[in-house]
Amino acid sequence: MQAILDDITAKVTAMPDKGKVATYIPQLACVDPDQFGICVALPDGTVFSAGDAHTLFSIQSISKVFTTTMALGKLGDAIWKRVGREPSGDPFNSVVQLEMENGKPRNPFINAGAITVVDAIMMGHLPKETIAEILEFVRFIADDNTIAIDEKVAQSELLTGDRNASLAHFMASYGHFKNPVDYVLGAYFHHCSIAMTCEQLAKAALFLVSDGVNLSTGARVVSEQRARRINSLMMMCGHYDGSGEFAFRVGLPGKSGVGGGIMAVAPGKASISVWSPGLDRVGNSHLGTIALEMLTQRTGWSVF
Ligand code: DON
Repeated sequence: MQAILDDITAKVTAMPDKGKVATYIPQLACVDPDQFGICVALPDGTVFSAGDAHTLFSIQSISKVFTTTMALGKLGDAIWKRVGREPSGDPFNSVVQLEMENGKPRNPFINAGAITVVDAIMMGHLPKETIAEILEFVRFIADDNTIAIDEKVAQSELLTGDRNASLAHFMASYGHFKNPVDYVLGAYFHHCSIAMTCEQLAKAALFLVSDGVNLSTGARVVSEQRARRINSLMMMCGHYDGSGEFAFRVGLPGKSGVGGGIMAVAPGKASISVWSPGLDRVGNSHLGTIALEMLTQRTGWSVF
């Protein structure tokens, strides 16, 4: 496995087209695009890493997998009254379906869906309490108490978050929100701003590899059925309007973020995380996707 990762890293870092870093969050525009990391974690917690796998990056929308997992734990299937579980086929920050579908987002991974999930898990608490709870959950599943939020990124998102604010206020206009919109947005921007390394992220995904249990720590995080369902959401909706392309090329449940990270799951086999800040046309890591495509071709880990 180490030889495969070293080879993939050498090949993708030599490619001239590295994609384009996200600029709509100014703090992310400052990240050096010339970085690439990859980590594979086996069910027992053994990790193989290459490239910049120990560099912290902004996990952005990958955090939505963790908040969705928390929402399922707190509300169970009642969460599906508030968000759907269909791919949207639209960009992650699109507003167009919301009006036609009465303010109910298509899935928990588009921005409108993830903002709704935060409202659902907040339950009358203050933003700082909700943020602390999300961070504690991520530290628990990754078995790493050093994981923290990059406050500069959070402030950068807050200052430029007009699109997310409009999505949130639009949904609130249907009477769907139980907490003040500003509180919900504050918690949302902060969980998107969690900083992690490829290695931490691959470990955090281990519960999705082994039917809800992180076998390296023995912790049961969710039921077997729930782990399958979270993986199915990642497969269908994890890359927004690029989800079909990702399934076609990589063949694994995966979740991307505009920080350039992708967390993927090969059920029963391994969790994988890649990071390269340059994005493709729809906002998913350009080199990260190519690397995952190479990895599944060599390992036969595609679920298809
Ligand atoms: O709200 C946003 O736009 C960002 N915090 C997260 C978007 C994101 O990561 C989309 N993923 N590819």
